[in-house]
Amino acid sequence: MSKIETVVDWLLSSNKTVVLTGAGMSTESGVPDFRSASGWWTKTDPQKVATVDALKTDYPLFHEFYSMRIQLLEKCAPHKGHYILADWEKKGFLHHLATQNVDGFHLQAGNKNVDELHGSIYTFRCHSCGRSAAKEAFLAMESCAYCNGRLRPNVVLFGEMLPEKAWMSALSNIQRADVVIVIGTSLEVYPVNQLPMMTKGKKVYINKEIASHATYFDCILEGKAKEVLLEINEQLEKRR
Ligand code: NAD
Ligand code: APR
Repeated sequence: MSKIETVVDWLLSSNKTVVLTGAGMSTESGVPDFRSASGWWTKTDPQKVATVDALKTDYPLFHEFYSMRIQLLEKCAPHKGHYILADWEKKGFLHHLATQNVDGFHLQAGNKNVDELHGSIYTFRCHSCGRSAAKEAFLAMESCAYCNGRLRPNVVLFGEMLPEKAWMSALSNIQRADVVIVIGTSLEVYPVNQLPMMTKGKKVYINKEIASHATYFDCILEGKAKEVLLEINEQLEKRR
């Protein structure tokens, strides 16, 4: 039996399937990932733009990095792979989705049960007083209207805690899953990289490059997210 057919079998017999995605889920939409050859961190030192220290010590560089990502995302959209995952939720093949991505593509494609573990790049707040701020105010590099503090996107910066509600939801759903499908993540960053090991169910890894530490997966599909999801979906449609 092929790996695709195995995954389809597991999806058909699963009462609780959870998907966990990373930046590799959005590269076929034109959004770079972080640690691939063309990833953000090959051009920019993450310590200089994706940490609280960066926000405090070099706000113009921090602001430029996130403004550039926001403007890029305005030209990008979810791809067929995102829409397949939304269709699986509608048809009852997918029960929960957790993502490290801040691009909102899973929500745009129609998934409802989504945990954004690293926040969202589409909403903003003052880093000092926490009050919400408008995108236009952030892009214009305005200070907080209440306390004159620095504005930032609601993206989890390195060293910051993940949003508690999203983390607990992803953890409890993955712990109780029959199948966990991990798509497009290097599994390099703590604590999300701990999640796949916490399930009692079958673990599937769909990734362009298979990291050496990925040995604990029950099924590994080396390939591009959209292409592999199209293959699985084609088989699923025939068998459902
Ligand atoms: P870490 O020391 O666990 O590094 C893990 C991996 O991320 C390593 O491969 C490292 O090369 C890389 N890395 C380290 N600092 C980075 C940075 N500033 N930007 C991008 N990559 C970086 O890093 P950490 O600080 O312990 O990360 C885990 C903490 O950061 C957790 O508290 C988590 O909540 C938070 N976090 C933030 C983001 C984000 O969106 N920037 C993503 C994941 C985790
Ligand atoms: N299909 C499948 N896999 C892909 C594709 C694709 N089209 N494109 C890239 N990949 C793979 C890459 O080979 C890589 O292993 O996706 C993985 C992306 O890994 P990272 O770039 O490390 O992104 P991610 O795992 O999401 O990073 C976690 O680190 O800096 C933080 O905030 C950032 O949330 C991010 C976190």
